[in-house]
This record gives sequence, C-alpha cells and structure tokens, in this order.
Amino acid sequence: MKIYKEKNYDEASKKAASIIAAQITLKPDSILGLATGSTPIGAYEKLVDSYKKGELDFSGITSINLDEYRGLSPEHDQSYRYFMNLHLFNHVNINKSNTFVPDGLEKDADKACRLYNSIIEKYGGIDLQLLGLGHNGHIGFNEPDTKFTCDTHCVDLTPSTIEANTRFFNSQAEVPKQAYTMGIRTIMQARRVLLMVTGEAKADILKKVLYGPVTPEVPASILQLHKHLYVVADEEAAKYL
Ligand code: GLP
Repeated sequence: MKIYKEKNYDEASKKAASIIAAQITLKPDSILGLATGSTPIGAYEKLVDSYKKGELDFSGITSINLDEYRGLSPEHDQSYRYFMNLHLFNHVNINKSNTFVPDGLEKDADKACRLYNSIIEKYGGIDLQLLGLGHNGHIGFNEPDTKFTCDTHCVDLTPSTIEANTRFFNSQAEVPKQAYTMGIRTIMQARRVLLMVTGEAKADILKKVLYGPVTPEVPASILQLHKHLYVVADEEAAKYL
C-alpha cells in the first residue's frame, strides 16, 4: 500500500488525477473503473484541464463505473450516468459507447447485474479502479455486511447512506433505496486500486479501513489485501494515519 498525504482537497485531486493520467498515458487502451460521489470531482476537473491542454488522449479508453441507483434514468440529474457525463465524459474525447454504467432502468435486477458482469468480463477486468469511501466504509455501494460480495448485485442502501446522499436530492423520500453495484471481488481483481478520501468526517473510518481488522462490516478494509493499492488523502482525512 502506498499512502499519499496531501495538504488539502485541491492537492489530493491533483495527485489522484496524476495517477489516472499516468495510467492513460502508459496504456492508452486502459480499462478505467470510475467512481462518483463528491470526492473525485476535483480529480475529474484536473483530467479535463489536462485534456484541454492536449496532454491526454481518452480516445482508446474504456470506462466501467462502479454503480448506479436502481430506478433512475440516465437523464435524471442525480443518476451516476448523468454525473459522469457532466463531470468527465462530455468534456473529453472518450468514445461514449465505450463508457459503461449499470442500467438503473432495468427492473429485472438479475438481468441488469448479469449484463454488467458480462461487460466487465468481456473487457478482461479493470486496469485502474478509482474509489471513494462511504462514511460507513462502503465502496461502490457495497454496504457493511456479514460477507464480502463477489460480482455485480442489487443492494438495499443503508439508512446512513440514504441520509448521506439526501443532500443531492430535494428530499429524503426521493433518494433511491436500492442500487446496482460492482462487487468486492471485481474491485479486488482490478490490477491497481486508487482510493481517494478527503475531509475530517472520513478520518476515523479511513483509519479503520487501512489498519483495522479486515471484515465485511467495513467493506473497504479488504483493500488492505490488494497488492497495488494507492491511497490519496488530504491532511484532514489522514490525521489518524
Ligand atoms: C456514494 C457512492 C460511492 C462514494 C460514496 C462517498 O455512496 N456510491 O461510490 O464513494 O458515495 O461519496 P462522497 O465522495 O460524496 O463522500
């Protein structure tokens, strides 16, 4: 595990973006596992800046996102497909047909998950997986559980996750209660993992994730076992490391 402690959110975003940019430059046909949430927004901004300066080429890149709310259409402004278009895909030369997000409108959960697993398999897995961290230690939408999950599956979101995500919706009632998410095994099979964590509110959970017991009750704790884990944190999130 390599931990980068950066001064603030902006520096952490720069560092995360530089790791993703290096991946793109060294392997222009990379399969990137991408994440949503407020944490990676700054890193996406830096990647867009680099692209606009002519430093990056996304034309050979394939992206496979971690998760999507069940029931939200790609046009819904809180869907993760909309988020990715808004913060990255609309501003770089990635071929949109090579960008994948689970189909939130597919009502048949088995079908949605099966299709997503087959996409991940078809592309031979993920070269670099970007992750944020939920307040309860979730990654993607893999919530605390009694066992680690494997492949893409449908999850019931925990009350704390629903609460945390309410800030993006008009009311708590509007927050979807379920999501499709990539499983822990798929995340662990990524060749490299980049975990980005910022802000004091995540300091406690980050310490548990990196130095506590490896347990499905703290899903991200499994990352301790990943051979190529890069953690980018700002000083606030890293204060107990
Ligand atoms: C959501 C997403 C996660 C993300 C988490 C933290 O639950 N499914 O992928 O890491 O939120 O979000 P934030 O970065 O806004 O704290």
